[in-house]
Amino acid sequence: MAASSSLQFTATPFNQFHSKQVPKHATKWGTIRCSAASPSKSYNITLLPGDGIGPEVISVAKNALQLVASIEGFEVAFEEMPMGGAALDAVGVPLPAETLNSAKRSDATLLGAIGGYKWDKNEKHLKPETGLLQLREGLQVFANLRPATVLPQLVDASTLKKEVAEGVDLMVVRELTGGIYFGKPRGFSTNENGQEIGFNTEVYAAYEIDRIARIAFETARKRRGKLCSVDKANVLEASMLWRKIVTALASEYPDVELSHMYVDNAAMQLVRNPKQFDTIVTNNIFGDILSDEASMITGSIGMLPSASLGAAGPGLFEPIHGSAPDIAGQDKANPLATMLSAAMLLKYGLGEEKAAQRIEAAVLDALNRGFRTGDIHSAGHKLVGCKEMGEEVLKSIDSKTPAAV
Ligand SMILES: NC(=O)c1ccc[n+]([C@@H]2O[C@H](COP(=O)([O-])OP(=O)(O)OC[C@H]3O[C@@H](n4cnc5c(N)ncnc54)[C@H](O)[C@@H]3O)[C@@H](O)[C@H]2O)c1
Repeated sequence: MAASSSLQFTATPFNQFHSKQVPKHATKWGTIRCSAASPSKSYNITLLPGDGIGPEVISVAKNALQLVASIEGFEVAFEEMPMGGAALDAVGVPLPAETLNSAKRSDATLLGAIGGYKWDKNEKHLKPETGLLQLREGLQVFANLRPATVLPQLVDASTLKKEVAEGVDLMVVRELTGGIYFGKPRGFSTNENGQEIGFNTEVYAAYEIDRIARIAFETARKRRGKLCSVDKANVLEASMLWRKIVTALASEYPDVELSHMYVDNAAMQLVRNPKQFDTIVTNNIFGDILSDEASMITGSIGMLPSASLGAAGPGLFEPIHGSAPDIAGQDKANPLATMLSAAMLLKYGLGEEKAAQRIEAAVLDALNRGFRTGDIHSAGHKLVGCKEMGEEVLKSIDSKTPAAV
């Protein structure tokens, strides 16, 4: 199968995990395969449904995890915890200590989405988004991997011309816990003319660049061997250091072809000729913007998963979309980004590659059979809601023999 149609989000599982004894779970979909011996492996997964469409898409992804685990002969136990607006309503903070502790104790965490109009006017420390930053910081997940793959089935959903979008298969590796989103000093003040000012600091220590660059080189090595480091080294000192450290590391990865690009050019090239990119590595703020831009090449934000990884300890896996308050509670959400995030959890977080491939193959199969949620729907396809799309993917998981995966 061609790379562009295979959803192969190739990379090394960076985290180490240990097995724990947990209770057995069953699913109402499909047949649960029981091996004669008890499953040798079991994992604890923290689920953070969050707000808006979060609970809808998490419930679908949870069923997929249960089903592939039963087929592949391992066990999963879920601990569902409040996060974001749901946690603010329940206990008054966006990331309760119990939620962070559960995520830290687990083998991996799957997050739906957080946020909504209700909490938009809250003070900063009481915003759902603050909880998300705290979670990433608490788990020390400094590397955010966001694949953007244009599936042949959805090429017409892209806003780019077919010939530009066709075959795009790239990975953005974004630094997640440093840079201007965390740098100090930051705040509000008054300048010498008595005018109000707001200020932030873009700052990177050498070790922060080194560790994200290593993950990016490793990721590129497992893909097509091309790494493009994006910075603004013609203007920013933090970017100058970034470029120096990434360049120095290249000698350790002679099989990876390294290039550099300024962020303004990268933003342009992503819409001009996105196929030129394999793996992109960049800082927190540039990665935030470029990965959203890359996502639109694929046609829908509802299709894109992400993984956030640290040097050790559990990873955080989540769709890149938000809580979509405009469609929340209406069974209109596309659950595929969360299902593919669950696949990334299996692959990168638990090292359960085969189970991950089962979900990826099933997503493609459901699309091949013509099922579409509203965000990716076009004439000639069957319009379904979140639940039905989830059920169709489960049917595909269940009908695939291991050889077909
Ligand atoms: N990681 C996160 O949890 C995260 C990320 C981004 C935004 N947010 C929060 O989400 C809230 C809404 O933000 P926004 O509107 O800018 O972004 P959004 O991603 O929630 O929605 C943008 C548009 O995409 C649509 N959309 C998003 N996900 C979809 C899906 N799975 N299926 C179908 N359509 C989908 C929405 O209906 C909306 O029209 C805000 O409170 C924001 O802070 C959270």
